[in-house]
Amino acid sequence: MEFFSLNGTKVSRIGLGTWAIGGGEWGAVSEADAVATCLSIFDHGMNLIDTAPIYGHGRSEEIIGRAMREHGRREDFYIATKAGLEWNARGVFANSDPARLRQEFEDSLRRLGTEYVDLYQIHWPDTTLPMERAAEVMRELLDAGRIRAVGVSNFSVKQMEAFAQITPIDANQPPYNIFEREIDAEILPYCRRKGIAVLTYSSMCRSLLAGRLKADTAIPEGDIRRVDPKFQQPRFGQYLRAVAELDAFAQKEYGKRVLHLAVRWVLDRPGISAALWGAKRPAQLDAVEEILGWQLDADAMEEIDGIVAACVRDPIGPEYLTPGVRSS
Ligand SMILES: NC(=O)c1ccc[n+]([C@@H]2O[C@H](COP(=O)([O-])OP(=O)(O)OC[C@H]3O[C@@H](n4cnc5c(N)ncnc54)[C@H](OP(=O)(O)O)[C@@H]3O)[C@@H](O)[C@H]2O)c1
Repeated sequence: MEFFSLNGTKVSRIGLGTWAIGGGEWGAVSEADAVATCLSIFDHGMNLIDTAPIYGHGRSEEIIGRAMREHGRREDFYIATKAGLEWNARGVFANSDPARLRQEFEDSLRRLGTEYVDLYQIHWPDTTLPMERAAEVMRELLDAGRIRAVGVSNFSVKQMEAFAQITPIDANQPPYNIFEREIDAEILPYCRRKGIAVLTYSSMCRSLLAGRLKADTAIPEGDIRRVDPKFQQPRFGQYLRAVAELDAFAQKEYGKRVLHLAVRWVLDRPGISAALWGAKRPAQLDAVEEILGWQLDADAMEEIDGIVAACVRDPIGPEYLTPGVRSS
């Protein structure tokens, strides 16, 4: 495994993402598979697990709590969880009301069965409040030793600047993959300048870059990919053509597959600390070893850019994931 350092702790550069494990938006996952997936990180030298209260409305954190109890040594895990998303009958909304954030923290500790969080992240910026309000709560938790590092997710540079007036940002979690590179313009350069660790989500573009999907693969009702504009024709066909060409490139040049290329691509981009890998069962992490021990050079990066530009005529980003703005 490759590692990076976050506030003095050694953290794996590949982390398990547990949105799907929460169940609901990515199809059903049994509790046994979910717990086993969390425990299987140690088979691959990983320690980073990313979660959030919204994933399965608490279930993902509870699953990780159960895995930590079964494993027995809390300190072997590097747990990144989040706060600042509210869900109700009307939908999902960013909400960083300070009292709510404090309550969310206590709820997360209870579900995880732990006394501290390694990395605590504001999930989405609440644009109805100054960013400083959320930062003040994070500062309190940090000063009290209840969290070990402060993170943000889906923040713009301006929002990070305001937040950092109150407490330094240790880590940022944006979307990033071969098809979604919006952070290259401002966010990644800012994080590099400020020494902020970057943990990327959707490293496989929500499975598109894993290579399993075909034009006629049925995506079940209720699966989030049903509403992902990348998965709708005719755009889906463009992305699938790119995936096929990237797969051929990975096989010819490295004896690898597109999934390996996709994660390696993230890890080899300057300024990236870790790539999150969404998995539902232990076998999905078996490919982790295929990511290690090789690298993409500048020529390969250029070749990949050429494939994407030639195939994807009508690109679209991950904006559909943006939560609503609350009304009060
Ligand atoms: N901060 C945020 O706002 C935010 C937003 C999104 C995600 N995240 C975090 O990032 C994590 C990962 O991102 P993501 O959930 O968007 O998805 P992702 O990692 O890009 O893709 C995950 C999907 O890839 C497929 N996959 C994984 N391993 C595979 C393998 N070995 N072979 C074939 N397919 C494989 C699975 O698809 P199938 O379901 O088809 O098996 C899996 O559900 C999340 O779990 C969450 O922790 C954070």
